[in-house]
Amino acid sequence: MVALDTVRKHNSTLKDLGPNLVAVFVGGTSGIGETTARAFVKHTLSPRVYLIGRNESQASKIIEELRQLNNDSQASFVKCDVSRLHDVDEACKTIQSKEDKVNLLFMSPGIMTTKGRDETDEGVDKKLSLHYYARMRFLVNLLPQLTNAGTSNQLSRTISVLSAGHEAKLLLDDLPLKNHYSLGNCANHAITMNSLAMEELAASHPATSFIHAYPGGVNTGLMDNLLGRFGSNVLFFLAKPWVVPLDQSGERHLYAATSSTYSSRDRKADGAVTGADGTKGSGAYLLSWDGSVTGNQKILNGYRRDGTRKTVWEHTLGVFESVCGRKE
Ligand SMILES: NC(=O)c1ccc[n+]([C@@H]2O[C@H](COP(=O)([O-])OP(=O)(O)OC[C@H]3O[C@@H](n4cnc5c(N)ncnc54)[C@H](OP(=O)(O)O)[C@@H]3O)[C@@H](O)[C@H]2O)c1
Repeated sequence: MVALDTVRKHNSTLKDLGPNLVAVFVGGTSGIGETTARAFVKHTLSPRVYLIGRNESQASKIIEELRQLNNDSQASFVKCDVSRLHDVDEACKTIQSKEDKVNLLFMSPGIMTTKGRDETDEGVDKKLSLHYYARMRFLVNLLPQLTNAGTSNQLSRTISVLSAGHEAKLLLDDLPLKNHYSLGNCANHAITMNSLAMEELAASHPATSFIHAYPGGVNTGLMDNLLGRFGSNVLFFLAKPWVVPLDQSGERHLYAATSSTYSSRDRKADGAVTGADGTKGSGAYLLSWDGSVTGNQKILNGYRRDGTRKTVWEHTLGVFESVCGRKE
């Protein structure tokens, strides 16, 4: 476990990373993305921040508050239905027209629903897209900008916030779950494919580090769809000993986003922790809510050995090609 004092001490040094860091928060209009954006803006020098989501009025409110937190910050909203891969491409083009480097891509878009398979007009399940395919589309699109940051000796990192450590068996003959959709299968596929993808991308992109993180229980708007705000508050009150306070979640994710213990392969730090594949400083990390290393290695080792990691990535690029007409 990384002690909260260590997290706070580290975050208080982030001005040393220099001015004008660029961060993209996909799902930055609420919850974990929003609180991490606040922590990022508070602790860095003249940062430029992009909040991606659908809720424009919420984004305007956050942007105003970010300005008050750090007068030298610049925050903008990019409106996007992230579940649609074409819309993801448009959002990335908007960012790329303004930035030639991206230091942090932080992805936490998500929904809680008990609805069964719910296809977008692109033929992808909405939840599986928000939790996996759309995140990977952002990542693939913005890899040149992340690499530019990394090869310029700057911070270059991506974090996908979902449920590292809870990897489970995949239905290999139905990765997009067209015929075997259930909430359990959707969670298993999104989680396991996130972990495998981070490792696969780190192997070919040594200038960037790739993290799949589990946030623990955090009282955000996520459960409101099912329980209402009052119901969520009751649930989180009853679970209080296990709940990570929202501010702390932001500080902890900022640590994960910036600490050299999760360094890229190119910039391996002395204190680098063990990566997803069991090698110190491998550039891909599976982290629990407290910054410690996690991962269901029994499942992941098997998938590494038998080539499933590559199969999952080829499947992902195949979905991109069939929906968007190009893999990358
Ligand atoms: N909170 C927890 O206890 C917990 C625990 C384990 C895992 N997680 C995972 O962590 C991630 C973040 O959760 P959170 O608690 O921060 O949730 P949250 O507060 O509900 O935030 C979800 C974000 O996703 C965005 N989003 C949802 N659908 C979208 C769409 N179609 N297009 C664009 N943006 C969309 C929302 O933006 P707009 O409303 O602006 O569209 C919002 O910014 C989720 O994947 C969740 O499953 C959370």
